[in-house]
Amino acid sequence: MARGLGSIAVLALAFTVALAADHSPLQDFCVADLNGQVMVNGFACKNPNMVQANDFYYSGLHMMGNTSNALGSSVTPVFVFHLPGLNTLGISLARLDFAPWGVIPPHTHPRATEILTVLEGQIQVGFVTSNPENRHISKTLNKGDVFVFPVNLVHYQRNIGNTYAVAVVALSSQNPGVIPIASAVFGSNPDISTDILAKAFQVSDDVISDMQLKF
Ligand SMILES: *[C@@H]1O[C@H](CO)[C@@H](O)[C@H](O)[C@H]1NC(C)=O
Repeated sequence: MARGLGSIAVLALAFTVALAADHSPLQDFCVADLNGQVMVNGFACKNPNMVQANDFYYSGLHMMGNTSNALGSSVTPVFVFHLPGLNTLGISLARLDFAPWGVIPPHTHPRATEILTVLEGQIQVGFVTSNPENRHISKTLNKGDVFVFPVNLVHYQRNIGNTYAVAVVALSSQNPGVIPIASAVFGSNPDISTDILAKAFQVSDDVISDMQLKF
C-alpha cells in the first residue's frame, strides 16, 4: 500500500515537471469567456458556435507605448485578457517601447520563456542563471536580432541608443505573469520587515527604508 502511494507520488512529480509550460489544448480552441463565473486554471470556454474571428484578433501593436515614466519604457501586452482566443494555447505577445536609454528593469516571468526580436534601435539584454553560478549572460542586439530568455530566470532590457527603440516579444504562456524584482522585494504589500531585507542585502535599515519608500 505504502509502496503504491510512493509510486503515485513519483508519477505525480514527473507529471508536474513535464508541465513546465502551459497545458496542451484538448480541442481546436477554447476562446476565453472573460466574464465567466467558473473558476478553472485559465478561463472557461465560450460556446464554440458563438466564436467570431474577432475572438482571435487584436489590433493596436503599431502604436507606440507611452515611455514618459521613470524607467523610460513601456510594455503593451497581448495576453489572454486582451485576446481571448489565446486561452489554453500557451502563447502570447507584447510590444516593448524604449525612450533613449530606457530600461525594463530586472524581472522574471513565472510561467513563460520569452523570445525577443528587435524592430528598431539597439538594445542591451541579459539574464542571470540560478545558484550557485549566478552567471550573467548579456548581449547587445541590433535591428533584426533575436534573443531568448529561458523561463523563470531574472532578465532585463535596456535601450543603449539616443533614439527610440522597439522590440516584440513572444512568451510561452497565455498569461506569463511578471515579477519585477525591485517592486516585489521593496514594494510588497504589506512590507517585508526592514530588518529582514537589511540582513538579506547586507546594508543598514535606513538604506532599506529609502528603497521601500521608492516602491
Ligand atoms: C504619458 O504618460 C505621462 C505620465 O503618466 C502622462 O502625463 C502623459 O499625458 C502621457 N502621454 C500620452 C500621450 O498619453
